[in-house]
Amino acid sequence: MARILLGVSGGIAAYKALELARLATVAGHGVRVLMTEGATRFVGAASFEGIVGAPVLISEFERDPLRGAFPDGPRPEHDPIGHLELAANCDAYLVAPASANTLAKLAAGIADSMLTTSFLACTAPRLVAPAMNDRMYANAATQANLATLRERRVTVIEPDEGALASRGERGRGRLPEPARLLARLEAALPAGHRPWDGLRVLVTAGGTREPIDPVRFVGNRSSGRMGLALAAAAARRGADVTLIAANVALPEPPGVRRVDVETTAQLAAAAGAEFSSSHVLLMAAAPADFRTTEVAEAKLRRQDSVDLRLEPTEDILAGLTAIRTDEQTIVGFAAEHGNERIERAREKLTRKKADLIVLNDVSDPSIGFESDQNAVTLIDPKEETDVPLSSKDSIADTILDRVGQLRAEAGLPAR
Ligand code: CTP
Repeated sequence: MARILLGVSGGIAAYKALELARLATVAGHGVRVLMTEGATRFVGAASFEGIVGAPVLISEFERDPLRGAFPDGPRPEHDPIGHLELAANCDAYLVAPASANTLAKLAAGIADSMLTTSFLACTAPRLVAPAMNDRMYANAATQANLATLRERRVTVIEPDEGALASRGERGRGRLPEPARLLARLEAALPAGHRPWDGLRVLVTAGGTREPIDPVRFVGNRSSGRMGLALAAAAARRGADVTLIAANVALPEPPGVRRVDVETTAQLAAAAGAEFSSSHVLLMAAAPADFRTTEVAEAKLRRQDSVDLRLEPTEDILAGLTAIRTDEQTIVGFAAEHGNERIERAREKLTRKKADLIVLNDVSDPSIGFESDQNAVTLIDPKEETDVPLSSKDSIADTILDRVGQLRAEAGLPAR
């Protein structure tokens, strides 16, 4: 896995950095923590040291007992210059939370602590996650500092909007949840260090269309956005992603192999060809459940009396899970409504032999289809988890986190 440098600056959100350090360590990464003096007023160095199993450094003059090594890594014979060695050895450096003061120093190139000095010396991917009061965040000075950092190829992880630390205040400035921070950090890691390196992921997206005549079809309103978000999230984690896109008008994410299909039969054939070599199947497409029994060869005319007869299409997911192996992780989607939607989705989980069902409540008009947002419930054999309304990108990361957990619990590679 990767060697991660975590810089923690002074802010109430510093407590979330403890959970981030824990998640990164549990994920198998070697983590070293650098704190500012200010950060030590909010959380103790001893907590980080206990979690990552390595000393925390604060002052740029401090001797590093590990001589710039990461936990479990080899220590050099000589005693190197601490801030240079850690910066040279890391695969990525994330400052979270990044206070307004620390951001200003990083933008100005000030080197007055182990955190800031190492940031200046670091040539690995660098990320900052600002967290502060919304007025401080919106201030022109902070925004100018962030713009400077972006220009210098530092990744800025935007803060979330919501309740802030100061009582009763809401706004943009919250540090994103630690799992999200870890996903963003891992996405920045070089190939070979990303958590899903070597994993083959098959994603289906969009909605199939069953022709009535050469110009008309029976179809559904799926836009493919959720599938594209899943494909993008898997690619960011390093997976080798194949996207089977059924009538998706949007471009595929970078690095993703795309196969275009139109009908349920074509989707079934394309998925069948890829399935056995895939470790993970994310069946986000909405295949048409019915096809016309006959397709008119020429365009039907309004004057023609049309009597459409429909027959059910094959259940692609059930067909694939019938030949699945225990090494594969399979995620199905369910569009349900009404009070019994959870029971129906759970029944689908068992009947379709999937490991996880992502349940969409299709009666809620604010989510789904064309929207960039979604709210879902994740249902696996053991538990149900509500994922509140958020962007499809964020939902995709939550689904992949769950896939990773399920694979880890089953003793399979990749989280
Ligand atoms: N699905 C599929 N093949 C189909 C229809 C659906 O593989 N012909 C997959 C979808 O991609 C999704 C899951 O099955 O992952 C659930 O889809 P949904 O339409 O909610 O369920 P149905 O298959 O229609 O369920 P039912 O059998 O209750 O009609």
